[in-house]
Amino acid sequence: MNYEFRKTVNPREWSAPEIAPSVLSADFGYLMRDVKEIEAQCSFLHLDVMDGHFVPNMSIGIPVIKSVRKHTDMILDTHLMIDNPDDYIQAFADAGSDYITFHVECSDNPHKTIELIKNAGKKAGMSIHPDTPIEVVKPYLKDLDLFLIMSVRPGFGGQKFMPEALDRIKYVRQQLDAIGSNAILSVDGGIINDNASAIFKAGAGLFVAGSTVFCADDKAKAVEELKKCALL
Ligand code: DX5
Ligand code: ZN
Repeated sequence: MNYEFRKTVNPREWSAPEIAPSVLSADFGYLMRDVKEIEAQCSFLHLDVMDGHFVPNMSIGIPVIKSVRKHTDMILDTHLMIDNPDDYIQAFADAGSDYITFHVECSDNPHKTIELIKNAGKKAGMSIHPDTPIEVVKPYLKDLDLFLIMSVRPGFGGQKFMPEALDRIKYVRQQLDAIGSNAILSVDGGIINDNASAIFKAGAGLFVAGSTVFCADDKAKAVEELKKCALL
């Protein structure tokens, strides 16, 4: 699959979920080796950026994304868990992100943040913390290319899926359908084989999976298994 083809994929035509492996659980000392193991199975690669402020942890940033960009044609799905996202959007765009997702809690003016991402020539995504009422995102959905439901408290990999996320997925699915949006509905956190089917049935199309993929001995097989379980 080449890069241009990957960018034209329409989520409404996906018959199975796409898996976006989250590199947070990869071995950063061998990052591209790990990524190459799943490159043929996945179109999206999820990159978690943390600031130690909005979330109680730190992770990777601009230089790592810039380096990853040089070595793969996967769609780079950058998840900004940072305050003041507007200040960094151009830098993450220049680094080679394809989708830039910010948290609704972190922006004073989400309409403006979405516009900044689009003006940088990138696809705009919004995410929401599990503690924030889901209805607050409604006014922004029509302008988004991706919506990311957090199914764990953002900040760490390997946490347990919060079952309340299922109703939030259904709510956003309904809202997107009501306005005829083709935005990707993505879910992040605690996705394992056992909950994949419920998440797919709730209406999500893109599954972010960190530990399920990168902690497996056979990472490509873990992706295939997760897709298969989603269809059960
Ligand atoms: C958590 C991150 C996730 C994380 C998911 O804040 O946004 O992308 O890597 O990891 P798992 O799949 O292990 O829950
Ligand atoms: Zn993430």
